[in-house]
Amino acid sequence: MNMPLPHAPLQRLDEQLQAANTLTPHIRVAPQSAHIGALISGVVLERPLSAAEVHTVRSALLRWKVVFFRDQHLTHEQHLAFSRQFGELTLGHPVFGHVDGHPELYSIAKHRKANRHSGQAEQRPWTGWHADVTAAHNPPAASILRGVTIPPYGGDTQWTNLAAAYNALSAPLQAFLQTLRGEHRFSAPQGATASAEYLELVRNNTLVSEHPLITVHPETGEKVLYISPGFLKTVSGLNTRESRVLLEFLWEHAVSSEFTVRFKWEPGSLAFWDNRATAHVAPQDIFALEFDRQLYRSTLVGKIPVGADGRESTAVQGDPVLAAHGAAY
Ligand SMILES: [Fe+2]
Repeated sequence: MNMPLPHAPLQRLDEQLQAANTLTPHIRVAPQSAHIGALISGVVLERPLSAAEVHTVRSALLRWKVVFFRDQHLTHEQHLAFSRQFGELTLGHPVFGHVDGHPELYSIAKHRKANRHSGQAEQRPWTGWHADVTAAHNPPAASILRGVTIPPYGGDTQWTNLAAAYNALSAPLQAFLQTLRGEHRFSAPQGATASAEYLELVRNNTLVSEHPLITVHPETGEKVLYISPGFLKTVSGLNTRESRVLLEFLWEHAVSSEFTVRFKWEPGSLAFWDNRATAHVAPQDIFALEFDRQLYRSTLVGKIPVGADGRESTAVQGDPVLAAHGAAY
């Protein structure tokens, strides 16, 4: 990258994390790559955290965009209780439902509904990358994913830092992108054919939203290249070719390996990511292996994104993703 990263916001986030960590010296925050990911140790998640511990974890999340924990063998209830310390929870998934008896928990099994496409999805560098539920008017602020059944190898997850990706673009392109918005919706990956069940679920729970291409993070103030490859379909106002070529360039840029981190799951691992500043992907290698994989996810209610131009996202179709207790589902 030929553009230096601006250091001021990161320095501020570093200082905030350092100050928080001073009050929780038993917690260790170990960065996992230059731009994204930190492994947090020295804290037990099955019990309520102290206010200082919550502050340190939150500060680490804002600085490093995704934080990882090991050896936390939580029950569903403990997972949800941990999550609630950081915000209100959504229903498991607005389109694909939730775990029986646990409305705020979404099951991510190897062969879940969201994977039910036939045919071969077109393999591009960004295939499968997404931020969670960006078809919603207010996509989740964060997701908390817990590993239960984990293959001995394969089935990792990768995240990319979309604020770092924005910073690495040239100033003229940054300025142009700030004027643009794009439409996010659920659909099968390009080249694949969605199953009838998938199509019916999407049809009955249609979510379509227009979000700015560049958002301002509500807590850090960072500008974010808000392009969720799996959901963002078109750039408003551009013609078809302009939109496709621009998005392909941005998607490829956003998933460049230098902005990413890759996490190898173990039973008892937990990944907690800022869904407003990252995209992630589950590499498809697991489907070449016989091993099963079972993860569970909770998501925190998010605000309506705001663009660098001050304009909010707009809902095209569907209801906002409310807290589970207030949702009319
Ligand atoms: Fe996801």
